[in-house]
Amino acid sequence: MDNLSGSLVNLRPLRDEDFEFLAGLRNDMRTQGWNQRLPPCYTPKMVKERVEKDYDKPNRGVWGIETKDGKLVGYINYEETPPRLGATIGVITCVESWGKGHAREAMELILRFLFEERGLQVASLWTLSDRVRMIGLAQKLGFKASARLRESAIVGGKVYDTLVMDMIREEYLSKHSKMAGT
Ligand SMILES: CC(C)(COP(=O)(O)OP(=O)(O)OC[C@H]1O[C@@H](n2cnc3c(N)ncnc32)[C@H](O)[C@@H]1OP(=O)(O)O)[C@@H](O)C(=O)NCCC(=O)NCCS
Repeated sequence: MDNLSGSLVNLRPLRDEDFEFLAGLRNDMRTQGWNQRLPPCYTPKMVKERVEKDYDKPNRGVWGIETKDGKLVGYINYEETPPRLGATIGVITCVESWGKGHAREAMELILRFLFEERGLQVASLWTLSDRVRMIGLAQKLGFKASARLRESAIVGGKVYDTLVMDMIREEYLSKHSKMAGT
């Protein structure tokens, strides 16, 4: 997997020493975006096995989000569904990095990769209705709400809707004139 570099962060392959930090993200209810049904009891070994089992599968990728001074602040991944047409993105950053532009730049880098390198038609993400930061960031980037699965998630005993947000290729290109040729 190639590195992807921005002005604030680099996206780089995960390393063995990252899995303790990643398990911490999975166990923190503020950053645990998806794991609605499972108790937060991930170990570094579990996270490593889960990540590594996908390494050899095609049409997907995962990177650590690292600041320019070498601090790991989160991770970002995608899975093409269906292959070569669309991809679903997942992103989580530690609370200390929120509001600093790290996740935004990581999203911009992966969107460029998906639309310009992979040539995809649509990029999607799934989040919960209470995840105001993800919804706010996605809107800033140009994602639009495309589906709402009502009361489809339960976190800490409360029920939430699942939101699907997406950006289609033409919307991406109209914001990024280089490829649009304008
Ligand atoms: C989602 C996540 C990666 C975003 O990173 P971040 O650094 O918080 O994102 P940003 O600060 O760039 O953007 C968040 C936006 O939401 C807005 N926001 C924050 N709190 C808000 C609130 N209470 N109501 C409305 N909007 C709010 C922010 O103002 C910001 O927009 P702005 O820059 O225009 O002001 C990070 O918060 C995270 O890891 N959350 C937990 C995991 C998760 O939910 N992942 C999504 C699964 S795909």
